[in-house]
Amino acid sequence: MGAIAPLARSNDFKDDDLTEAHSALAALDAIRVDKPAPDHVPRDRVVDLAFAMGGVPNDLVDPYAPAGWLNHPAIPRLLFNPSQPGLGGLPTDGSWVVTHYEDIDRVYSDNDFFSNRGAAQFQALIGETFESIPLGIDPPDHSKYRMFLMPYFSPARISRDLEPRIRAIVVEMIDAIADKGEVDMAWDFGRVFPVRVFMGLMGFPPKMFETFLAWEWDILHTADLETIQAALRNVLDFLRGFIAEKKASPDEHLVSAIVHGRIEGRALTEDEIIGMVWFLWLGGLDTVAATISQMFRRMALQPDIQHRIRKDRTLINGAVEEFLRTQPILGSARRATQDFEWHGLAIRQGDMVTCLNPSGNFDPARFADPRTFDPTRKGNRHFTFVGGVHTCLGAHLARRELRVLLEEWFDRIPEFGIRAGADITVYPGLMSVRNLPLQWQVA
Ligand code: HEM
Repeated sequence: MGAIAPLARSNDFKDDDLTEAHSALAALDAIRVDKPAPDHVPRDRVVDLAFAMGGVPNDLVDPYAPAGWLNHPAIPRLLFNPSQPGLGGLPTDGSWVVTHYEDIDRVYSDNDFFSNRGAAQFQALIGETFESIPLGIDPPDHSKYRMFLMPYFSPARISRDLEPRIRAIVVEMIDAIADKGEVDMAWDFGRVFPVRVFMGLMGFPPKMFETFLAWEWDILHTADLETIQAALRNVLDFLRGFIAEKKASPDEHLVSAIVHGRIEGRALTEDEIIGMVWFLWLGGLDTVAATISQMFRRMALQPDIQHRIRKDRTLINGAVEEFLRTQPILGSARRATQDFEWHGLAIRQGDMVTCLNPSGNFDPARFADPRTFDPTRKGNRHFTFVGGVHTCLGAHLARRELRVLLEEWFDRIPEFGIRAGADITVYPGLMSVRNLPLQWQVA
């Protein structure tokens, strides 16, 4: 089955084949591995899922297609990935993996059985004990932090305070390239635009831009522990210094609001402040960038999407939602809070359960004609921002950035494509496209 070769090539992948149960089961057979797994995991569920988790590049128009068969009804509901990397790429004891919409939905919404405690706790790699807030906090405590931060990310606040700035940045950046007829959409645009918005929201000094991205790259994308630890020390030193500055001289931005904020009538502790500022730094920096790069790659490789949006701008909101559904750049994991039985198997307290969003977002049991990009799709409840209490706090902001970008782009740039011969390989995950040279005709 070509779809699971180390580098999947478009020609190898036959979508129709994979709708057949026997093909899906053959594909499953091909990824079974003889690696150690806990005793309560049946051997026939032990598989290597690296190819579906963003770790293997491909050059497909739909880079998530290789994971498509994993949601087939014939595929067992619980798989086990023994080589699941943990934070900083460190080895783990492996993870259960759910691939069907219904099961992913349960993991995100059933807080009695699935915990997010300690998620994104990179700081533990350098001995820090504060928590990543709000992501690493379970209900009921989670809601007090979420309620505190929510007003800064509400649609009304975004319209009032952020959208004018978002539009100004987008227009300035597009005007600077329109007459050139080309841009590296990933490196010079997608990487820059949302980070400028984010830095403005938080009040971070613009001169830190490149340094922040370098630190983030080291934390999320290197396998070398010392490099990760050095970057973590640098980030946390910087953030603590910045927090101290805002304590002494408040301003109108979000870090200052956190530093001087109150929860349940009391000031925030040092750990709460750094926990929030750190996690916003990690979560807000390059998620939109990855989405933009993949969105433009898809439009360039499938120009009918450009044509449709250009002809009918009322499709933009639906198109953004469909780009998000078809480009789930992150998967998420939870830990079982107790022993229980699920789909006939024993789950043990502490077991990790990973949700494969690239499979759930295309589950035919939930989405009609799931691999078709349809900007008129109704009820598009995908998992790109997950679901349940931890649904991405920045989702409204991200959507607004993507919408404004498309509105202004189609007003200024004609049909575009990818420069001939350019590498269109993509890692279907975060920071997935490093370079995307786009070209268009200049009048
Ligand atoms: C397209 C862009 C984005 C994507 C795909 C994305 C994705 C996600 C995902 C998957 C989660 C949940 C992780 C989990 O439950 O394990 C999450 C949570 C979160 N995201 Fe985003 N994110 C995006 C943009 C942003 C932005 C721009 C910000 C902030 C400026 C942000 C802030 C957060 C926060 C604070 C949480 C934690 C929410 C909570 O635990 O209650 N995100 N995001």
